[in-house]
Amino acid sequence: MSHPQPAAARFDDPVLAAMAARRSISKVGPQTPSDNELLALLDAVTPVADHKALKPWRLLTIRGDDRLRLGAALDAAAGREPGDKPNPKPLRAELLIAVIASPTEHPKVPEWEQHATAAGAAHLLELALWQAGWGVMWRTGLDANAPAVRALHGLDENELLMGWLYVGDIDPAFRKRLETSRRPPKDPSQFLSTLPAPEAVTAESTDADDPAGERIGQRADQHTEEKAATTAAKKTAESTKAKKSDKKAAKKAEEQAKKAAQKAKKKAKKKDRR
Ligand SMILES: Cc1cc2nc3c(=O)[nH]c(=O)nc-3n(C[C@H](O)[C@H](O)[C@H](O)COP(=O)(O)O)c2cc1C
Repeated sequence: MSHPQPAAARFDDPVLAAMAARRSISKVGPQTPSDNELLALLDAVTPVADHKALKPWRLLTIRGDDRLRLGAALDAAAGREPGDKPNPKPLRAELLIAVIASPTEHPKVPEWEQHATAAGAAHLLELALWQAGWGVMWRTGLDANAPAVRALHGLDENELLMGWLYVGDIDPAFRKRLETSRRPPKDPSQFLSTLPAPEAVTAESTDADDPAGERIGQRADQHTEEKAATTAAKKTAESTKAKKSDKKAAKKAEEQAKKAAQKAKKKAKKKDRR
């Protein structure tokens, strides 16, 4: 099915029209909402779906020189020496809003559900800002959760930085062009279907020992732990190779790496059994 009309034009309802019209603005101007304006908009965000009302998210505003601190942390995370020029990335907007998933342990609400709530809050905030007339773009980058970046944001061990909303005003000429934009909507039918037919649900794909799909989360944990151990070990092996070009030492480091990965795997399996 094709939709020649811009999606927003097909809705009379202002909320649906705003949702259909929203788009990311990569180049924003210097005006920003004040903290009070943000607080007012947050009233439209806090009703985000939140299992057991754990409130597993929080936001930080980053303005002015704090953006330079972020740039320095990103440089440190990427192993770049601090140069004369600041890292330009955080300077692409006068206001960055860091979105932090802040899960707590709960017997009925796995961590992934709490991450989903945090992502939902970020999407709602993006939409609320857009509807209030602001340009927004959600950005991350591979170093968003590097130690230097996490430390700058004061993250607890269990917290996850979901990225930053870059916020500013929209150039009036660009806004005019947006109003007449005919960005084709994505065909919605690709996102909607029904359960697979019963005969397609094979015995192998049904795991009775998997209560409430918990293993999905644990598998992710296991993967992360194994990956971290392997990466750390590889790094040690590489640096040993580079420094001493001593094959024996490098081999030993590789073995240590393997052991560390196996240990992480065992630990994760133990968790899996719990
Ligand atoms: C969690 C998350 C992280 C993102 N990180 C980046 C990023 O680092 N750089 C980028 O260009 N776009 C990033 N995006 C995508 C943009 O925010 C935006 O959605 C995309 O450019 C499509 O534009 P649209 O929102 O107008 O459809 C991210 C989106 C999400 C949801």
